[in-house]
Amino acid sequence: MSQERAEELRRLLNLAAHAYYVLDAPVMEDPVYDRLYRELVELEAADPVLIRPDSPTRRVGGAPAEGFTSVDHRIPLLSLDNAFSLEELDDWYGRLLKVLDREPAAGEPPQVLPMVGELKIDGNALALSYEQGLLVRAATRGDGERGEEITANVRTIRSVPLRLQLKRPPAWVEVRGEAFIPEAGFAAINAERTDRGEAPFANPRNACAGTLRQLDPKVVASRRLSFFAYTLHLPGDWEPGPEDPAVPRGQWQALGWLRAAGFRVNPHCALCPDLAAVKAFCDRWEQDRRGLPYATDGVVVKLDDLRLQGDAGFTQKAPRWAVALKYAAEEAPSRLLRLTCQVGRTGVVTPVAEFEPVPLAGTSVSRATLHNADRLAELDLCAGDTIVVRKAGEIIPEVVRVLKELRPAGAARLELPTSCPECGSVLVREEGEAATRCVNNGCPAILRGSLRHWVSKGALDVDGLGIKLIEQLVDRGLVASIPGLYRLDAALLASLERMGETSARKLVAALEASKAQPWHRQLYGLGIRHVGEVNAKALARAFPAAADLAAAAAEAPEQLTAVFGIGPEIAQSLQQWFATSANQALLGQLRELGFSLASAEGPDDGRQETAGPSPLAGQTFVLTGSLPSLSRSQAQALIEAAGGRVSGAVSRKTNYVVAGEEAGSKLAKAEALGVAVLDEAGLRALLGAEPA
Ligand code: IVH
Repeated sequence: MSQERAEELRRLLNLAAHAYYVLDAPVMEDPVYDRLYRELVELEAADPVLIRPDSPTRRVGGAPAEGFTSVDHRIPLLSLDNAFSLEELDDWYGRLLKVLDREPAAGEPPQVLPMVGELKIDGNALALSYEQGLLVRAATRGDGERGEEITANVRTIRSVPLRLQLKRPPAWVEVRGEAFIPEAGFAAINAERTDRGEAPFANPRNACAGTLRQLDPKVVASRRLSFFAYTLHLPGDWEPGPEDPAVPRGQWQALGWLRAAGFRVNPHCALCPDLAAVKAFCDRWEQDRRGLPYATDGVVVKLDDLRLQGDAGFTQKAPRWAVALKYAAEEAPSRLLRLTCQVGRTGVVTPVAEFEPVPLAGTSVSRATLHNADRLAELDLCAGDTIVVRKAGEIIPEVVRVLKELRPAGAARLELPTSCPECGSVLVREEGEAATRCVNNGCPAILRGSLRHWVSKGALDVDGLGIKLIEQLVDRGLVASIPGLYRLDAALLASLERMGETSARKLVAALEASKAQPWHRQLYGLGIRHVGEVNAKALARAFPAAADLAAAAAEAPEQLTAVFGIGPEIAQSLQQWFATSANQALLGQLRELGFSLASAEGPDDGRQETAGPSPLAGQTFVLTGSLPSLSRSQAQALIEAAGGRVSGAVSRKTNYVVAGEEAGSKLAKAEALGVAVLDEAGLRALLGAEPA
């Protein structure tokens, strides 16, 4: 019974994930997906025999790796020859006809060979091996012969199928394609890194490469990589089942095969009957690529016919039957006008180059971030310099280099200021950090940033309080802290620029309503360093009130690090935050305003007891073996935080045994007594925690 249900759930969930991540056409609402997902987690936890390697619950599992091992590629991953103009494309085609012995006789039109045009995705090549339809290995390109085995990381990429959608899968299949980070994800990763004082990634490809080499698959999962498949290698003797896609004869059919087997294939490809059609495809995408949400650096042209591909063969490093038409990097010179600095919510100071506007990749560009002091020093920028500006990843402008030959004599070197451009206080750069910060809590820039963060979507989610309004409120001294927002009255608001009575009244109501937002959002809204949305949720669950969290931060930091996902760095940041008297005062004022600073079902009067209903109240757990990502004490802390009890011995009264690797006699005893056995994923599901 539960076996059938588990199978049904796996089928539904995989179908929904495929629709969402591959077809870009969701068929299920998120809460429905989540409910089914949890049901499957529970079934699998109650009976681990039901677990299958292609279960959606198995995308992220296992502890961080120590390092990667290298593996031989079954078939080498070659590179592509480049063409930098349509003339060079003609040359390539001429060489191809020659090697295929199809050169036209004098006066004859050239032979027509169908080709496939594809976008050249600017990511990182991956080789995926499937055996009997299951993903068994994923590797980076490496030197083309040997790559690094990164299967655990690649399993977290939702557009990579864990099982091929085939009735009769071949003994083995090799699929190649490109892993990449969409622009939006890239911007988010860099914002987070800058926030943490880490150096940002230069472009999405570097961010993707860095992510794939992460030792911890959980980090990879959080980065939302995607994958487009473009190459298929099948064994020669495979016979498809009656409903399976036929053995492809050309690249165009291979793309169709990949799509049918469940892969995400870039939709912007074309079967071109002749070279003129190929050129039209190239022309079109040279323009249209700018609207794409991911970076491309050219077009790949491939001879369609696989048999002819075999005839054309390879040079030392690249196939003769394909070529990459690369777009010229869009760079342009401009003159530096000034260096300005932005001060963010956490006080991080970001230098920004402002230059004479230049047209780049379809828009006019006049500003580019210089990231931090190190990057500024590396560029060696002087006042009045002529600089070369580029749009990295098509979207984000950057300063590539300085044309020093054109530097005016005696030009002054540009450096970060020593004092904050907003409040004048001395800037600080801590050892080992890339970021320079303003550490004055009263800095108006930090205040504006904190207010914006407080009202943002993931935090208190207050509608009608945009940047412009926040600027007015801070600049006119009408608001000096988060609580100040709640003391604004509608009449005053209505008198501000671009505000009317209705919008003022609505804003006051929205602010009032925000007091009912859950504790984890309030905690996230406080903008404590390193406490993002996910960590705020975990902390709010473990510490149902601000008072509990403050007490742990002051007296028992080990309780903080016992929370899943909270490491020493975050714990230290929390300690510092709660030890600051201004922050304690802030909490006091929020409480007076009517914020609970506690879970609705938890205590709100600062009592330590978990008074409200806890998910695991009255349940007894026994831990055995080592869990993939939780230490024994972390698992215990999680269980206890949720109201459960951890005991050392299994008895009939034990509700659950949580078993990991090398579980011993306790597991055997649990099985003998019919006590439910959970793995880590099952425990997380019970706790209502995010799946690992
Ligand atoms: S085909 C043997 N198709 O570009 C030919 N490659 O510069 C294999 N790339 O290593 C490559 N998009 O990482 C092919 N549609 C596409 C591609 C593509 C991006 C990458 C790939 C390759 C590199 C060569």
